Amino acid sequence: MIEWDGPAYDALPPPHQEWGKRTIAALNLPPTETLLVAGCGTGRDAQVALETLTSGPLICVAESRTMLDQCRAAIGSDPRVTIAQGNLDSPLSVTPNSVDTIMSVAALHWLADHKNVWRNFFTPLKPGGKRANDAGGFGNLERILNLALELFSETSSPSWYYANMENTTSLLIEAGFTNCEVELRPHPTVLASDKTLATYLQTLVFRDWQLTQIETLARAMTDNTLYYVRLEVRATKP
Ligand SMILES: C[S@@+](CC[C@H](N)C(=O)[O-])C[C@H]1O[C@@H](n2cnc3c(N)ncnc32)[C@H](O)[C@@H]1O
Repeated sequence: MIEWDGPAYDALPPPHQEWGKRTIAALNLPPTETLLVAGCGTGRDAQVALETLTSGPLICVAESRTMLDQCRAAIGSDPRVTIAQGNLDSPLSVTPNSVDTIMSVAALHWLADHKNVWRNFFTPLKPGGKRANDAGGFGNLERILNLALELFSETSSPSWYYANMENTTSLLIEAGFTNCEVELRPHPTVLASDKTLATYLQTLVFRDWQLTQIETLARAMTDNTLYYVRLEVRATKP
């Protein structure tokens, strides 16, 4: 299991909030919806969703305990919220056919294999239930990962899985989903300074690297831009 630094994550200026808002907007949530936030992190997307949801339950699931601690501190006292540790690669401890909507943001590319994940999302959904997803997709961060390899070929890069549209669509259909909309959306993101970039890379991307290596890499990135490519998925359980 990969652990996180919840407070450091929350202090970053990441584009994740924007991806979360975009994912929630695509869902057009009715106020009485039951929502599961998969890979919830520190609960920022859940907080946005709670502005719309009147009754809940809103279920937050993630693997990292430090992220969940931060999530608990932010929204754990809200009676609409349930927070649980879980691995998205395994069946979720949620009653089958009980959830209206599942969303996740910036989480699925941490799973090396997506064979199980769509099935695990299918089971808890009610018939007619929707899911909307954002994750790193095929080609995500390619430039910086190549630059990192050029500069420090002996140092390992993160082992993310950036799924493509064809494979994702096949797995969604195999899991039983219909109305599958899958797209890859480039989202270049400029960070304000070398220092912000270095902190960002250290917290989120090259977490095992030494600071001097990160700083060298940040200096070599002349445009301070992270070339994100998002895999956006919307699908329905029939
Ligand atoms: C980059 S954070 C994103 C958090 C949040 N969705 C956001 O956008 O701010 C990745 C999250 O995915 C979770 N995660 C990664 N792999 C997971 C897995 N196999 N099972 C459950 N959660 C996982 C981590 O615990 C973390 O909470």
